[in-house]
Amino acid sequence: MSAKKTISGFSKLSKTGKIKWIVQTFFTEPDKVMQELESYWHSNEEQQKILDNFSENTISNFPMPFSVAPNFLIDDHTYCVPMVIEESSVVAAASSAAKYWMSRGGFKTEIISTKKLGQVHFIWHGDAYKLIYHFPDIKKKLIDDCAGITKSMENRGGGILDIELIDLTDKEGGLFQLLASFETCESMGANFINTCLEQFARSLTAFFEDSDHFQAKESHAEVIMSILSNYTPECLVRATVECAIDELGEFPGGMTAEEFASRFYTAVRIAEIDPYRATTHNKGIYNGVDAVIIATGNDFRAVEACGHTYASKEGQYASLSHCKIKDGTFRFWIDLPLAVGTVGGLTSLHPIAKRSLELLENPGARELMRIIAATGLAQNFAAVRSLVTTGIQKGHMRMHLMNILNQLKATQEEEQAAVNHFAKQIVSFSAVREFLDKLRIADRS
Ligand code: MEV
Repeated sequence: MSAKKTISGFSKLSKTGKIKWIVQTFFTEPDKVMQELESYWHSNEEQQKILDNFSENTISNFPMPFSVAPNFLIDDHTYCVPMVIEESSVVAAASSAAKYWMSRGGFKTEIISTKKLGQVHFIWHGDAYKLIYHFPDIKKKLIDDCAGITKSMENRGGGILDIELIDLTDKEGGLFQLLASFETCESMGANFINTCLEQFARSLTAFFEDSDHFQAKESHAEVIMSILSNYTPECLVRATVECAIDELGEFPGGMTAEEFASRFYTAVRIAEIDPYRATTHNKGIYNGVDAVIIATGNDFRAVEACGHTYASKEGQYASLSHCKIKDGTFRFWIDLPLAVGTVGGLTSLHPIAKRSLELLENPGARELMRIIAATGLAQNFAAVRSLVTTGIQKGHMRMHLMNILNQLKATQEEEQAAVNHFAKQIVSFSAVREFLDKLRIADRS
């Protein structure tokens, strides 16, 4: 460990002090890096303050492309979907799938449920039967004591739905769980749920101290932790696309609609059977899902963690989407657990997240669930369509080529010449550089 690279009291330094220490300690060209970091600060000081307050030890902003995928017909409403993602061709693929399904009825969605969950784990020091017997009274106290916290959520139509006592003593001595379910309306609800859970924990401990039925010394609940569960299998939305096979159209290389449908079905089956393929298949879904989640200021780690657990619900990791071909109809759908919000958290603080929601015409949380599920399905459709027809590299390579051309500062004419040349050649950084070098030498002579 190099002493030069450690520091105490870093968080107490001013922003400029932090940057100075960083650039002088870790970079060979401190002044240049300092300028670069500062160049990404927001020109408006107030706006920069808002961004800085999202995190700690902020030294600059990290730019990411803010894109849109238009022409999403979802439940007969047309959306222009905001997407924040760095991977080239994701937005193009989503837009292409959206346009494709727009002329085939669009995406249909269904909210299956919107239940969120939280847990309080505790070790019960006492008679387990007595605890279970008195649970109805305990539950009443937990809910009553939370009234001050739940009042405003109840006014909005949400609140605590239920609290169950789960006996885990067969797995760990004395271990019990309070499993609480919540409706959090337009918010993702993490703060609300965690506040309720911590109140449950206090009330639970107090119950045994105050109750005549228990003697505190030999009967008490030792709370281990109180936290929401990001696994919300009952906060679920389904998105579906469907059309007659002969309406699927024509595919590259003279592939018929029947052949396409059958190959597509098999590709999805592979992801249902094989966890290695399922992981990549679902990664493609989250290319779309995460991009909208980030654009709307939601928590992509929570959404991903939940989705991957849900994908393992049958005991083996599997595809989140499914395909069926029946009576001449092609049907492709996804069931996606999504705990998202359109109020609270970053949704109203982040200036661009606010604009994203405005672009979507300020949806509620349920509508946002529908939009995100449709985007995930579109992304998945586009990826599997490429895989079973032309292969994925064709589309990827065009974007890759454009990125390389950008890096090499190609002019518009050079870009066009490179696109023509690489239509039938393998794209690599060195091949593009060589092509441009030759072109530039030829132009000079
Ligand atoms: C790449 O980001 C995503 C894909 O690999 C998804 C898939 O294979 O289905 C193309």
